[in-house]
Amino acid sequence: MATDFTEETATAAVVESFENTPDPRLREILGSLTRHLHDFVREIEPTIEEWEQAIGFLTATGHKCDDVRQEFILLSDVLGVSMLVETLNGRRAAAATDSTVLGPFHVVESPAREQGESIDLLGKGEPCVVTGRVVSVDGTPLPGALVDVWQCNEQGFYDVQQPDVQPPGNGRGLFTADDTGTFRFVTVVPSHYPIPTDGPVGALLTASRRHPYRPAHIHFIAGAAGHTPVTTHIFVAGSPYLESDAVFAVKKSLVEEFTAVDDPDRAADFQVANPFRLANFDIVLEASS
Ligand code: BEZ
Ligand code: FE
Repeated sequence: MATDFTEETATAAVVESFENTPDPRLREILGSLTRHLHDFVREIEPTIEEWEQAIGFLTATGHKCDDVRQEFILLSDVLGVSMLVETLNGRRAAAATDSTVLGPFHVVESPAREQGESIDLLGKGEPCVVTGRVVSVDGTPLPGALVDVWQCNEQGFYDVQQPDVQPPGNGRGLFTADDTGTFRFVTVVPSHYPIPTDGPVGALLTASRRHPYRPAHIHFIAGAAGHTPVTTHIFVAGSPYLESDAVFAVKKSLVEEFTAVDDPDRAADFQVANPFRLANFDIVLEASS
């Protein structure tokens, strides 16, 4: 005799339906998802129209995705889920560089570039040099470490957002640390910018009176043999929105001074126009176990 599906029996019935899932991790996830989702529905008691609206929102989120646009990552970002997942997975030695969100714009492979080369292919904006060393937690330099960087331009747009204005690879570079673990590149100071608001996530922000802005930053993924890679940013000290990043990704340890330098000799050494801004970012990686 079948048991009626009631408010009281609903959750147990669905959890039980997953009990033969052979993969224990998947079984755990499906059970937990069911319990939390049912609790959520019980708490908010959606009307049929509200539930249809929710399905419509998720459908529109999927339709907004393509090769260079990831609306689901954006949704996860503004709900603070990306940052929570990153934080739970980023528990490492206190000395190791903090991680932060990947974001939706690491959608193309960064072009390999030489030490000191410019990632700015347009020559607009405020010239800037970024230097740093990749080291292990005990301070040992990590020669050959790969440092993947990407950033928006001085107007707050990534190359993939402006295919008619920016050449592919503008603001992107893959660098290899030298014998002392040092990396260096020339760029322009990035701007703060709004995350894309022309999709369902933008509508959600508008409906909740939240602003869409991120403070100015440069993205990094750094990795070296025998070490856990880190996905992170440096934030430009003094940038607007450091206190209210739309995706909750600021960590104090990642805010760096972009110091103004007016020194033609140093500019010549760095092959950058004078005056320029100089930022240093040492990246500390934890040995993988
Ligand atoms: C980014 O920094 O590229 C980014 C991160 C989260 C949402 C949108 C953009
Ligand atoms: Fe970004």
